[in-house]
Amino acid sequence: MRYLKRKRMENAGKPRGFWGRKTMRDMNKSHSDLTDWGLSFLNFAEDDMILDIGCGGGRTVHKLTGCTKGRIYGIDHAPTAVTKSLCVNKKAVDKGQVGIVEATVSALPFGADTFTKVTAIETVYFWPDLVNDLKEVRRVMKKDGQLLITTEDRADSSKAKAYVEMQRQSGFFIPSAASLARALKAAGFHHIEANIRGEWLSLTAEK
Ligand SMILES: C[S@@+](CC[C@H](N)C(=O)[O-])C[C@H]1O[C@@H](n2cnc3c(N)ncnc32)[C@H](O)[C@@H]1O
Repeated sequence: MRYLKRKRMENAGKPRGFWGRKTMRDMNKSHSDLTDWGLSFLNFAEDDMILDIGCGGGRTVHKLTGCTKGRIYGIDHAPTAVTKSLCVNKKAVDKGQVGIVEATVSALPFGADTFTKVTAIETVYFWPDLVNDLKEVRRVMKKDGQLLITTEDRADSSKAKAYVEMQRQSGFFIPSAASLARALKAAGFHHIEANIRGEWLSLTAEK
């Protein structure tokens, strides 16, 4: 694997140091269109309470400030991502609209029934225990709240073979629409809908 690609893959799941900061800057650009496409499946309201899981470089949180007047939290288990997200969203943080917290998806530092929307862009690949982590996400959501998961690679595409190899080398999980839908169902979600555009995958589900 080429050096740059390897560095990027090493830092995608938990950005650290120089390469982590570079990877987040790149992801803020390269994930932008995918994020816009995913967000188009959510029905935003003025008073939404939104959580962005695996907020990375903070661009999704920034986009969300344009979708609601409500409060938005970003969480990430990487301290480097928390620092970058705070910087990218400084104005909204200072205004009190945005909070960024270091945390893992497996133990969210929020009470039950808190959020009307949860977004997870390009992050489920790395979650340690998908069904239990989705149960934890469901716990912090309000009834009828919407969850959005998007990935730019999907196992059920024409590139499936390459993804099997990528998974073997990197250890992270590349989902298919069916495997994610099964995990969402097992975690108790309903109204699960999958959308596909080329290699991109987007699932919405309700609590
Ligand atoms: C590929 S990056 C995507 C970042 C951002 N969502 C975007 O689309 O640009 C994946 C992010 O998920 C975070 N992440 C991975 N596993 C996590 C976990 N178990 N809990 C919280 N964050 C996690 C990583 O630290 C990283 O910032």
